Amino acid sequence: MTADDAGINEAARILSAGGLVALPTETVYGLACDATDARAVARLYAAKGRPSFNPLIAHVPDLDAARRVGHFNTEAELLAAQFWPGPLTLVVPAIESATCDLARAGLSSVAIRVPAHPVARAVLSAVGRPIAAPSANRSGHVSPTSAKHVMADLDGAIDMVLDAGPAKVGIESTILDCTGLRPVLLRPGGLARSAIEAVLGHKLARLATPVSENAPLAPGMLASHYAPSVPVRLDASHIEPGEALLTFAGAKPPGEPAIVLDLSPAGDLMEAAANLFAHLRALDASGARGIAVVPLPHEGLGEGIIDRLQRAAAPR
Ligand code: TXA
Ligand code: MG
Repeated sequence: MTADDAGINEAARILSAGGLVALPTETVYGLACDATDARAVARLYAAKGRPSFNPLIAHVPDLDAARRVGHFNTEAELLAAQFWPGPLTLVVPAIESATCDLARAGLSSVAIRVPAHPVARAVLSAVGRPIAAPSANRSGHVSPTSAKHVMADLDGAIDMVLDAGPAKVGIESTILDCTGLRPVLLRPGGLARSAIEAVLGHKLARLATPVSENAPLAPGMLASHYAPSVPVRLDASHIEPGEALLTFAGAKPPGEPAIVLDLSPAGDLMEAAANLFAHLRALDASGARGIAVVPLPHEGLGEGIIDRLQRAAAPR
């Protein structure tokens, strides 16, 4: 359904009644449900085919609402004031009565985000409860940046898709753990590390431990989380026969790719992030026997883009 006033009201009605709605956010489309309703959350996990130990992000309309869901220390307050609404998720100690245990996968911490997308914010304000919203794809698939991607994965399993066109940022939010003395980077994403470090005035540590299926500190960090069906080969310096090429800034490694898509012909990492998942889907569907990816810059949003590509390339 189109994301006009009628669509927004209908989405809020379905969510308040325990239903599942795919919503646009500025990062990727999210599959939303009432985070206080364990039955709705259980249905959401089932629709995604997601292992139920994966905790979900609670989405709220503003910092006041966020303070009713978790406890913010000084640095979490600073980051929220600076970057919300926007593509940043903060993990903080939970106010456990504010979201159901299943949404938090039983953890005593909670991940909270205030999205910037006007449609998401309108729905959140109308529902007036925290909304759990993982990316609106089947577990293990590439995240959706359009309503069409959502339908390709979840048609029939959910109650509604609100269509507001392509997602602007294109990769998921950056996640920081703010439960300890210093924030720790759990997932690079749509907000660059350098912007966060500039506000904090110190470097961010990154959780280095690869998280296994059985030790789910941040299960979105499962190695092969973002998986096209064909093999993905990173830092390619040549193209093998039958491979598709995912390139950047017009780079042309030797070889004859079956098909070429450029993340950003102009070499703009923001444009590259916005195109990443749609290009992966298109190359995956092209019939090529693999996807070769050129080396990408590590700065700015490059860290989040490379993180997603490493997962896409991980053995499975
Ligand atoms: O941009 C986004 O963040 C999108 C849009 C829809 O908002 N959402 C998203 O949700 O990416 P999801 O469920 O695909 O990823 C949430 C990540 C998972 O890696 C999960 O393990 C982690 O957040 N997470 C949630 N609660 C956590 C917690 N208490 N401690 C550590 N990690 C947590
Ligand atoms: Mg996801």
